[in-house]
Amino acid sequence: MGCGMYVCICNAINERRVHGAIADGAARLSEVFRKNGCRPQCGRCLSHMREVMQSHAAPNGAEAGQRARD
Ligand code: FES
Repeated sequence: MGCGMYVCICNAINERRVHGAIADGAARLSEVFRKNGCRPQCGRCLSHMREVMQSHAAPNGAEAGQRARD
């Protein structure tokens, strides 16, 4: 499933850490960074991270996917 693939190089956040943040209640990009103890740096990862969040949220319906776009 590729959960070890890096999403954010600046902060060394991989897909597993994104999913962990979501499981811990993160519904927005900013919350994924906060739950990993960091902030966006260059911003190049934001669109990919949004896709990872949406693909993770998809089985639960559109509402979570909508929040991931905020
Ligand atoms: S790659 Fe995520 S902030 Fe730079």
